[in-house]
Amino acid sequence: MTKSRIAAVDVGNDSIKAIFGELEYEMNIPNIVARDTEDRPVIGIEELDTKEPLDGIHIKVHSPALKENNLIYRVGNLAAKSNNAVELDPGSSKSEEDQTLIMLLAALALDAVKGDFPRTKNVIDANYTLGTGLPLREVKEGKDAGYRSKLIGSVHQVEFLVTPKYQGLKVNIKFNEVKVYPEGFAAFINLVMDNHLKIINKDLIDKRILIQDIGGLSTDIAVIKNRNVDDDKAQGFNLGVSESLEAIREEIRTKHGVELDSRRDVVEIITRKNDRNHIMVKGSRTSVHDITDRILLDLAKKQYRLLRNVWQKNSQTEICYFVGGGAHVLKDYLKTLNNNLDGYNIEFFEDDKESIWMMANAYYKLITDFVRRTEKQKAAPAKS
Ligand SMILES: Nc1ncnc2c1ncn2[C@@H]1O[C@H](COP(=O)(O)OP(=O)(O)OP(=O)(O)O)[C@@H](O)[C@H]1O
Ligand SMILES: [Mg+2]
Repeated sequence: MTKSRIAAVDVGNDSIKAIFGELEYEMNIPNIVARDTEDRPVIGIEELDTKEPLDGIHIKVHSPALKENNLIYRVGNLAAKSNNAVELDPGSSKSEEDQTLIMLLAALALDAVKGDFPRTKNVIDANYTLGTGLPLREVKEGKDAGYRSKLIGSVHQVEFLVTPKYQGLKVNIKFNEVKVYPEGFAAFINLVMDNHLKIINKDLIDKRILIQDIGGLSTDIAVIKNRNVDDDKAQGFNLGVSESLEAIREEIRTKHGVELDSRRDVVEIITRKNDRNHIMVKGSRTSVHDITDRILLDLAKKQYRLLRNVWQKNSQTEICYFVGGGAHVLKDYLKTLNNNLDGYNIEFFEDDKESIWMMANAYYKLITDFVRRTEKQKAAPAKS
């Protein structure tokens, strides 16, 4: 049997985060796809110049799991440049969107071409043991089972078309095992356990806690009690930070005539250590604090209302952790609001990376532990 490689993948609405093998490779790709109509699209000079495969992901995906099979896509940064780019719609179901599968398979294929899977000419046979997740809401609806069987039941092929370095390679992806975890539960696991699922936070494990995950397009609040996610109490909201980042970008454009490339640039301006909330306008250092403050405070208030609402319904909660990229962006605003208002026991992560990679890290812990346990089981009878 071919060796199976571990993959832990968080398909976020804003970006996909993936961790592979023995933690040796991490990948972060914006969750954007664009259909390509022709087999060999006209490639602009700009794209020919892209040397990084991740900036030029151009693939054809064959998979029975897709609603629309055998289509060609631009993915990630390359898709962002096209005029027909699609980002996930807040109301959609991750488990039922082709886009989720396209992103997932693209990430696996990009890892597979680097790995030591068997290769015949230009075809690579990859095998993965996958840990991934779905929003609580979808797991509650039982959609995890269908999602898992779509993945595990067939061979998926990603064909690299005009992608730098990998053009012409085909990756056949099979799954040895697929585990689909509920997102909120995963965040809890990451908080209380290390890579060997040893408890690292004894204080926390039996507490009643909330985990408010502020993402790009959505916010999920998980309620943890008796070391488990309380499915009935968990709530998802179609409110993320992307819209606010976009609004800041737009206002900087109209007010200062400065065109920022992306929401990422906005994040950089509002979170950097030096010269925070300043931009250069015609060579002069200019404050945009008025714009960022107003828009972010407004979002922070909405997020605080969500917290208040859920806390009221779970009055014995002891602490709430804020995670996700949005927590990083709104940290100071939420802290100030909380000091002036209800004074809940709330906690943030110092490091933005920890906040953003929370789910991927959790899936990694869970799937490596699963692999260790199954290997032990296999080894045990052989020895006796
Ligand atoms: N250090 C950072 N690097 C990149 N993006 C950041 C950073 N900090 C905050 N963000 C922003 O935070 C937002 C949410 O990011 P996150 O990765 O948590 O969302 P997601 O998990 O992909 O989305 P969702 O949870 O809605 O599915 C993004 O809009 C992103 O631009
Ligand atoms: Mg997320």
